[in-house]
Amino acid sequence: MSPAVWFDLAYLVGSVCIVWGLKRMSSPETAGPGNTLAAIGMGLAILAAVFYPLGEDDNGNLIWIFGGLLLGSGVGYVLAKKVAMTAMPQMVSLLNGMGGATAMILGLVEYLRIGSNSGSFASNLTVVFALLVGSVSFGGSLLAYLKLEGKVDDKKITLPFHSAFNLVLLALVLFGTWALSFSTNWGTGLLFLFTAISLFYGLSFVAPIGGADMPVVISLLNSFTGISAATAGFVYGNLMMIVGGILVGASGTILTLMMCKAMNRSLMNVIVGGFGNAVPGVAADSNQQVKSVGLTDAAIQLAYSKTVLVVPGYGLAVAQAQKVCKELDELLEANGVDVRYGIHPVAGRMPGHMNVLLAEADVPYPKLLDLEEANDFLNQCDAVVVIGANDVVNPAAERDPSSSIYGMPVLKVWQAKNTIVMKRSMGKGYAGIENPLFFEKNTYMLFGDAKQTLQGLVSEVKGLG
Ligand code: TAP
Repeated sequence: MSPAVWFDLAYLVGSVCIVWGLKRMSSPETAGPGNTLAAIGMGLAILAAVFYPLGEDDNGNLIWIFGGLLLGSGVGYVLAKKVAMTAMPQMVSLLNGMGGATAMILGLVEYLRIGSNSGSFASNLTVVFALLVGSVSFGGSLLAYLKLEGKVDDKKITLPFHSAFNLVLLALVLFGTWALSFSTNWGTGLLFLFTAISLFYGLSFVAPIGGADMPVVISLLNSFTGISAATAGFVYGNLMMIVGGILVGASGTILTLMMCKAMNRSLMNVIVGGFGNAVPGVAADSNQQVKSVGLTDAAIQLAYSKTVLVVPGYGLAVAQAQKVCKELDELLEANGVDVRYGIHPVAGRMPGHMNVLLAEADVPYPKLLDLEEANDFLNQCDAVVVIGANDVVNPAAERDPSSSIYGMPVLKVWQAKNTIVMKRSMGKGYAGIENPLFFEKNTYMLFGDAKQTLQGLVSEVKGLG
């Protein structure tokens, strides 16, 4: 067998490891080993790519390549160790931007290398397309990162007719793509101008999107990066880049559509709908009273229920209260209470956020009910404990057509006999709107930090035994 075949084999094994690793990531129990397997596959593919040009003089490039690998891996490791779970979307966005930047640089270098040896329109188009999509993804991801970090205000960077402006930019970059693919003799100046406009289009594309739509746009940009990597794979005839790019592109697209479905929005509506249209929601009627409950009463109510649904949200992640939540669950189960968890697909700040948190606390997976199962369970549920969730349990999504979340499927916790809501104040959730749930006749507010409140409940329930 020729040595080149061994390298193709390494790509094949790497691809299989990544596909298998992704498959294993679909369940919290196998997600950790799945991630390791995918990382091994990627490591193998990187090594194969580095050593593939067999026998050729490396021109001293290996030192740069390994220097870059070491530096990149070191920075990635430190970032991954330090990042808080709640800041994961920012990190994903930043890393995604790096992928886009790589495709952009590959496109630039390759275009300049082709120079006057212009190939066919199709082969030039592959290079320019990688450059275009990589630049858009890079620009867009950087802005998404800055927005999520709270460093840029959505409303200040949105123009009055922003969608129309974006359409003009899109027409411009598509025209540029055609012209640059038609001939590769345009010179460096025009090439850089095209790159700058593509980068600007990425920024402008993301500018009007904000609020609860950000995860959708991050996932969309992620799929763009995958597509640009796959295109760059065609440029270099690199199978691994094609496979990896297509996987990222396809999974990013599927995730984008799933999130749109979970919010009952079309992708077009997310992209051109713009943020800042959020209607604050119907303000609470001054006659409506909020009822609060103390730890002892709440503990009695839970311990003497037959069925309890826990609805975790972003606040559970902030308070890092998942372990003490599991402790309460075990105590209640020991008292004969059937405890389940209602998981909303966009609860928290990233897809699967609640699943990851609860898996960290070793909550058995079968206890987790998805949106539909949880809503069925709620009809016969004695008590619901909402822990740091707000938007995902907002009845305005069903009842108030003027609400910005109207139409988004929510957990109908108000259908249970009693609902206890744990949060620190009457503060709003991510969508920035009022929540009429807090004023329902069978809702009781248990104010305080989720972890401290849960610890208090654990002591109270122990005291009852
Ligand atoms: P939110 O609606 O954001 O509400 C979280 C609530 O947690 C807040 O109202 C806050 O109230 C409370 N909280 C914060 N810290 C707390 C603490 N230490 N202890 C107790 N409570 C605390 O959360 P949700 O219901 O999970 O909904 C998620 C929202 O984020 C949706 O609008 C969704 O579209 C959006 N989003 C989702 C994702 C994904 S993919 N999951 C990504 C980005 C955005 P207090 O301040 O009064 O305590």
